Amino acid sequence: MKAAARKRDPGALDRPRSEQAHVGELAAELDRRFEAAAFDWDGTAVADRAADASALRELFAALLEAGFDLALITGTDIANVDSQLGLRPRGPGRIIVACNSGSDVFELTPVGPVALEHRSAGNKTDSFRYLLAWFARRGVRPQQTLIAGSEFGPIGDNPGSDSLLLVPEAAGAVFFSVGRESEGTPGGVLDLGGGPELFHEILSDQLRRRAEGELPEHVSEKDWQIVVDGHGGEEESVRETLLTLSDGRIGTRGTLLTGTTNGPSVLAGGRYAGRGSEEELLAAPIWNRVEAAEAEHVRRVLDLRTGTLRHELVSEDGSKLEALLFQSLARPGTACLRASGPDEMLDSPSVLVAPDQVGTETRFHQLGDVTIGESVNVERVVAAANETREERSLERIVSYGGYELEPMAALHSAREAGFERLYTEHRVRWGERWLDSDVVIEGDPGLQLAVRYSLFGLISAAPDVGEAAIGAGALSGPRYRGHIFWDTDVFSLPFFAATHPASARAILRYRLNRLEPARAAAHASGRRGARFPWESTRSGLDVTPQSGRLPSGEIMAIRTGRLEEHITSDVAWAADCYLAWSGDESFAGEAQTIFVEAARYWASRIRFDSGGAGHIYTVIGPDEYHEPVDDSCFTNIMARWTLRRAARSVQDRPRADVEDGEIARWLELAEHLVDGFDPETGLYEEFAGFNKLEPIIAAQLGERPFAGESFLPITRLRNSQVVKQADVVLLHHLVPDEMVEHSLEPNLDFYEPRTSHGSSLSPAVHALLFARTGELEQAERYLRMAAGFDLENRNQTSNCGLHTATMGGAWQALVYGFAGVRPRGDALTVDPHIPVRWRALELTVRFRGARVRIRAEHERTMIWSDLPTLIIAGTSGTPVEAGPAGIELRASSGNGSRLSTPTWSPVSVPGADERPPSDEATH
Ligand code: IFM
Repeated sequence: MKAAARKRDPGALDRPRSEQAHVGELAAELDRRFEAAAFDWDGTAVADRAADASALRELFAALLEAGFDLALITGTDIANVDSQLGLRPRGPGRIIVACNSGSDVFELTPVGPVALEHRSAGNKTDSFRYLLAWFARRGVRPQQTLIAGSEFGPIGDNPGSDSLLLVPEAAGAVFFSVGRESEGTPGGVLDLGGGPELFHEILSDQLRRRAEGELPEHVSEKDWQIVVDGHGGEEESVRETLLTLSDGRIGTRGTLLTGTTNGPSVLAGGRYAGRGSEEELLAAPIWNRVEAAEAEHVRRVLDLRTGTLRHELVSEDGSKLEALLFQSLARPGTACLRASGPDEMLDSPSVLVAPDQVGTETRFHQLGDVTIGESVNVERVVAAANETREERSLERIVSYGGYELEPMAALHSAREAGFERLYTEHRVRWGERWLDSDVVIEGDPGLQLAVRYSLFGLISAAPDVGEAAIGAGALSGPRYRGHIFWDTDVFSLPFFAATHPASARAILRYRLNRLEPARAAAHASGRRGARFPWESTRSGLDVTPQSGRLPSGEIMAIRTGRLEEHITSDVAWAADCYLAWSGDESFAGEAQTIFVEAARYWASRIRFDSGGAGHIYTVIGPDEYHEPVDDSCFTNIMARWTLRRAARSVQDRPRADVEDGEIARWLELAEHLVDGFDPETGLYEEFAGFNKLEPIIAAQLGERPFAGESFLPITRLRNSQVVKQADVVLLHHLVPDEMVEHSLEPNLDFYEPRTSHGSSLSPAVHALLFARTGELEQAERYLRMAAGFDLENRNQTSNCGLHTATMGGAWQALVYGFAGVRPRGDALTVDPHIPVRWRALELTVRFRGARVRIRAEHERTMIWSDLPTLIIAGTSGTPVEAGPAGIELRASSGNGSRLSTPTWSPVSVPGADERPPSDEATH
């Protein structure tokens, strides 16, 4: 980390950069853009505690307005710093002050200093770690940070006070000293001298870089980035999918700046073109085209941490075009592009380009310097775009909305904010989301990246206000035309319920807003309550196609729209899942409406035989290879759960339109509904008659996953025991209390070899369940398959878009499966099963308003919570309370090398200084 100090040209920075005078003359390490600085106060930023700091005040204010973050550490108190600096910043950058060598942390705000934290054990090192963690939460890495002091080297026999800043967590940051340092600086610290004046110049250079349109740098981080070299060929459409940017409202595939041949590349969430089963996501005007000259080399880097996509295009003569793009997570619907390079590579004849979608007409007009593009089909989406050009740079801001005024207003506000503010607020929003969502797998970098990619796909998929209509591939491509399935309710929603409840609520809002069509669908089939559609779009009507083509070319009728009725219980399950994690009382009434309407549906759907047993005839379960079937175990048990859930809800919270008799009827129906369980074998029969089918074992047919239809003719497949996806066994995850105790193992043993995983939803469920049974090799194998599903293009369909539900399944496998974290009433169960290869699994969930961080190792698990939270160690036992100081659980069985089924029990409270590692700078 040792960097050679360079000789300083005293007037160098007073001249414009174009005249070749820049901080690179001092040290090459400073010759780039940084996003934050942490620094010592007197001696470094100001000469002493009485010096005039007005010039610094102006510089800081300008830096903060440009999104740069500042953190200062001082031995004096806040009143001194505040009166000396007198800064009342407006952001979006933020400035914090760690005082008295770090024990108290304040933020300087427009209304004065506000206390953030009191650190009783604080010293300079401790507070510096805090500052690094604070930067990390704002999406700033050490590599993007300048660290300045004036006493890094020893002073006589004593170490210099700034040597306390040399901590391993800061590796990658650029340290420099502007002090005298008579005995030199330690390795890794640039010894510049120059005092506060030079400090000022170095920060001024950062301001200048922003004014000149320099792009934020992508810090290279292998487990946070998807790097794609090259372009074109068959793989191009898969790459475009993988490099999608989305804010939940608008998704932009990672197409080359110079365009693509692969269909619509900008998709509008919740808006559709066409009618009925032909409805597909509406293609919006394209904003990310720059008609650069033909490039020899192309590199695209998707940075998961900041949600940005960087393009680098190098032409034959070596000229380079660089561009940074993002869909603002802070302002969903607004996108930004900044590019720099030779003017001939920045040729952009049109700011917006018409998408290629059959039946969609795109109209353009100009309003002053704003280009309006409007895609019109059955629905419409309007884009308002502005582009500014300077020598060697181009900047474009685009806002989308439903009617012209909406994007115009959004664009106006975005332009006022400007690129730097937009970039900062976007980066910070991602930092916050990662803080609550990241899952760290120590010991397996490949799996770590795949898991992060899955989480990235999920965070990108959902808006958090209004309603979230998330299709099968979210906004990454035309997967299933963007139709909404149970994928969203059962596979994706739990991630949001436990990390960003507002998005889970928005998903449920989508269903609630379509209760009327669901009621009408029930009514139309002569039933009561509400029946949710198997595939839906904006209208809430069923839009499942009537037919499809098999791999053989044969046309096949699709009956899922009519018969895959478990969706109605799945929506109720999603509402319950949201309540279980969030404890959101304000939603209890609406959740109850879903429970009641779903229960009424099943109550009118169940038929009794002469022996008094209840049946549900003629349905399709998750295993769509078999249809129609009677008494699908999955459908019946989910219906039973729904009836009981509705009854419990109304018993707890009576409502005028449900009488006692109706509750009693639901409970009676639940009691008598057959579920296919055979006590002799411990097996549930997948549906009536499944056991008599040809006993073909999918695992023996070929390497899984595979589509059953590609191995067996359809009639034979239907008459075999080959199962498409987790069906019976999924119940053990969704509604474990409905299942006979200890029935998971025999059913997993029986059904897993019979399952082809012909649906991408299947592997993650198996990972989760194998983790629960302690078969960790199997669990890990399935997790790898699920998390890498798109990165490895597992079923050759990633060109059509991401498998969003598979990503949600991977998160569930890690949280519910490996970590054994699950709400149980007012408590959270924690029962980790960690594969030998992993050193630790670390994750965060939001439970009942608390932020709970869990670090599971083989022999111990630590749990911290910012609010008192009840924890059940293992699956049963007396809850213990976790708080900010944390609790520790110990594994009591096994020898530490393979604790596949440990028994966890709480032991002591760890030391107060043992904070969650990821809360510090390791995040
Ligand atoms: O919802 C799934 C279904 O379970 C299997 N076929 C694909 C659908 C969309 O992902």
